[in-house]
Amino acid sequence: MLVENNVALERLNTFGIPARAQRLLRVRSPADLAQLMASPAWPTDAAPSVFVLGGGSNLVITGDIKALVLKVEIGGRRLLEETPKGWLVEGGAGESWHDFVVWTLAQGWPGLENLALIPGTLGAAPVQNIGAYGVELQDRFHSLDAVDLRSGAAFTLDAAQCGFGYRDSVFKHAPSDPRGFGLAGHALITRVRLWLPKPWRPVLGYLDLERKMAETGIDAPSAQQIFDWVVAVRRAKLPDPAVLGNAGSFFKNPTVTPEQCADIIAREPKVVHYPMADGSIKLAAGWLIDACGWKGKSVGNAAVYEKQALVLVNRGGPVHPCTGGEVMTLAKAIQTSVYERFGLRLEPEPVVV
Ligand code: EPU
Repeated sequence: MLVENNVALERLNTFGIPARAQRLLRVRSPADLAQLMASPAWPTDAAPSVFVLGGGSNLVITGDIKALVLKVEIGGRRLLEETPKGWLVEGGAGESWHDFVVWTLAQGWPGLENLALIPGTLGAAPVQNIGAYGVELQDRFHSLDAVDLRSGAAFTLDAAQCGFGYRDSVFKHAPSDPRGFGLAGHALITRVRLWLPKPWRPVLGYLDLERKMAETGIDAPSAQQIFDWVVAVRRAKLPDPAVLGNAGSFFKNPTVTPEQCADIIAREPKVVHYPMADGSIKLAAGWLIDACGWKGKSVGNAAVYEKQALVLVNRGGPVHPCTGGEVMTLAKAIQTSVYERFGLRLEPEPVVV
């Protein structure tokens, strides 16, 4: 266990925002954490002075981090159980999400193909309930192990206890949350288990995948085929963080009532909208931002991606990187203009620290 001082964070967040951590510890096993929590290096007021960092792919850093940064690097992946009903797989929280997807497919355990190429770690996946092309993490989630950063106690949560919602979970809510079980800042996820059911069934409802089926004439794709399509669609639409820093979608897609939607359609007939199972309507935030003319606009070196208005990018690269302040100023200007035109408040998706 080695606490590093004054650590540069630009390579530890996919935006490439420059900042420093006063102190950073790489947590390679739950034992590392237990040892740290018992040592004098552990902040006495514990949880609020600790910041848990995964792949840094859903993060905007607005200044140097004074809290002790715990960089989760717990590895390992294995099949826990195979039954006639499915495969139960487990991985360490520090595993790369995409590598985990590739590994499961290579083993012949399909089910995660729609979630290919999402940046970040396995441990961060439940925090924001990652989702793409018709599948959300909660659809494949079994359980996770975590450590309470106040008491040091290990605990396990099942799907219901994680309180999953659209890009949401208990890990994004403060303990003071009215739902009464927020864990933001108080838990470090160590292992995640996923359940991949048999028989495998493709999830193909998403428009981009239907287009691929029409283009190729393949109407019964394999899991590997869907994986390849998802990778191709993402590469065409979304910037590769290794080339152009970003944190994926910057805002959540807002939901409205059918009445609110009808009102917006009356004024803006082309608004992209999807009916949800609960009767609400989801609007495409990317379309709303695009309609307000934001593509390519910038504040300093933070810019709106030219091909997808929902993604904010670091246009200055590693040499002239944008700051977190520039990203947030741009985000606020976008929120204001969408509110003025559509009366809708866009909610940011990444964690802002
Ligand atoms: N659109 C525009 N202009 C734009 C951007 C989008 O008109 O600049 C329109 C598109 O033409 C499309 C609609 O808006 O009709 C929705 O766009 P898209 O299919 O690209 O999906 P999205 O709603 O922007 C969501 C997720 C993505 C996920 C994709 C695919 C959210 C916030 N984002 O994006 O997730 O990959 O669907 O399932 O839900 C992420 O969370 O970081 C992320 C990338």
